[in-house]
Amino acid sequence: MTESEVQALSRGGLSIELANRLIENVVGVHGLPLGIAPNFQINGRDYLIPMAIEEPSVVAAASHAAKLVRDAGGFTASADPPMMIGQVQLVDLKDVDAAYQKIIAARGDILKLADSKSSLVEFGGGARDLEARVIRDTRVGPMIIVHLLVDVRDAMGANSVNTSCETIAPFLEQLTGGRVVLRILSNLADKRLARAACRVRKEDIGADVVRHIVEAQVMAEVDPYRAATHNKGILNGIDSVVIATGNDWRAVEAGAHAYAARDGQYRALTKWDCAANGDLVGSIELPVVSGILGGTVSALPLAQVSLKILGVKTAPEFAGVLASVGLAQNLGALRALAGEGIQHGHMALHARQVAISAGATGDQIDRIADKLVEEKNVRLTRAQALLREIQ
Ligand code: MEV
Repeated sequence: MTESEVQALSRGGLSIELANRLIENVVGVHGLPLGIAPNFQINGRDYLIPMAIEEPSVVAAASHAAKLVRDAGGFTASADPPMMIGQVQLVDLKDVDAAYQKIIAARGDILKLADSKSSLVEFGGGARDLEARVIRDTRVGPMIIVHLLVDVRDAMGANSVNTSCETIAPFLEQLTGGRVVLRILSNLADKRLARAACRVRKEDIGADVVRHIVEAQVMAEVDPYRAATHNKGILNGIDSVVIATGNDWRAVEAGAHAYAARDGQYRALTKWDCAANGDLVGSIELPVVSGILGGTVSALPLAQVSLKILGVKTAPEFAGVLASVGLAQNLGALRALAGEGIQHGHMALHARQVAISAGATGDQIDRIADKLVEEKNVRLTRAQALLREIQ
C-alpha cells in the first residue's frame, strides 16, 4: 500500500469535495466498515476479499466458510464473456412483421452505428449482436423490443450500453417508421452469468449438518418466502464486495433477483447436495453486472484500494470471485442456521452495536457488550444501566 492508499483506508477515502462532484446536494460523506475475508482459494489462487458492510457476522461467516471449502480443494469459478444487453423499445408500428424483418436485415449497419460513439471499441469491446422480439398484443399496441448485445470488457458497462442504445434509436425509427420510447440496458444480464462450485468434507461438518443444509436448501427451492431470505444471505456477501469496489449494488441485486425468478417462481440462486461419499457439494449461478474499470469504480479512492487488495485482472475473473463469495456466504449462513442457529454467533457482535447505541465509547463498548452476553440479556435498557454504573 502506498501512503495515500493507507490514508484512503483510514479516512474512508472520500473527501467532501469529491463527494460533491459525484452526486447532487451533498451534505456529508457516509461511511461503512471495510473488512477483509481471508481463506478464499478460487481456481487455485488465493484471494483476500474486501467487504464493505454494516452487518456483524458477515465477514466472519464468509471467512469461516471459505476455510472449510479451502480444506476440500477451494472454489472453482467461471464467467461468461462480459456481454450486456441494451434494450430499445419500438411502438406505433403499422406492420410489425415487416418492421421486424427490416431490423434483422439491417443488423450489420445497426451494430456499426452502435459502436460509432462507444468508448468501448478502443478497449476491444463493442456491439456484438442484435436480437429482436415482437410482442403483438399489449395495452399500447404491438411492440418490438430490440436487444443490442454489447461486450463491455472490464467495465460494468451501463454508460456505454445506454449511449449505444441512444445512438441506434433514430435509425431504428427511420427504418421501421415506428417510434422509440425506452433506450436503456437490462439488469437481467443473463448473457453475463458467473458460476462457482465447491465441496465441504463430511468429516469437517458432520453428516447431520450436511443433511440439514440440503434440507434447508430444498426449502429455498420450493418456497419463495424462504428463497428471498436465502438469496439475501448470498447477496450479503456479493453486495459487500460490490460496494467495496465502488460498483452499483442495486444493479447486481436487480439482476440476481430477476434471475432467481426466471422460471416463473422465485427460487434459491444456489444448489446444495450430498455427494456419493457424503461430502456437501454446492454451486451458484447468477448474472454479475459489475466491473473493475470506469464510472465510480475508477473515481472512488477506496474502490481502487479494494481492487488492489483483491488483485483481480479482468471483469470475468471478478465475476467468478463474486459468485464464490456468494456461495461461501450462503454456506456460512446455512451452516449456522442448520446447526446452533444464527443468533448464537451473532449475539456477541450484536451486543457491541447495542452498547454503542446506548452511548458507550472506547473500551466501554467491549466491557458492556461482554457483560450483556454474559447475562444473556442483550437489551438497550440494560446496556444503558450498565453504562450509568460504569460512569
Ligand atoms: C441475514 O442477514 C442473512 C440470513 O438470514 C441468510 C439466511 O437465512 O440464509 C442469515
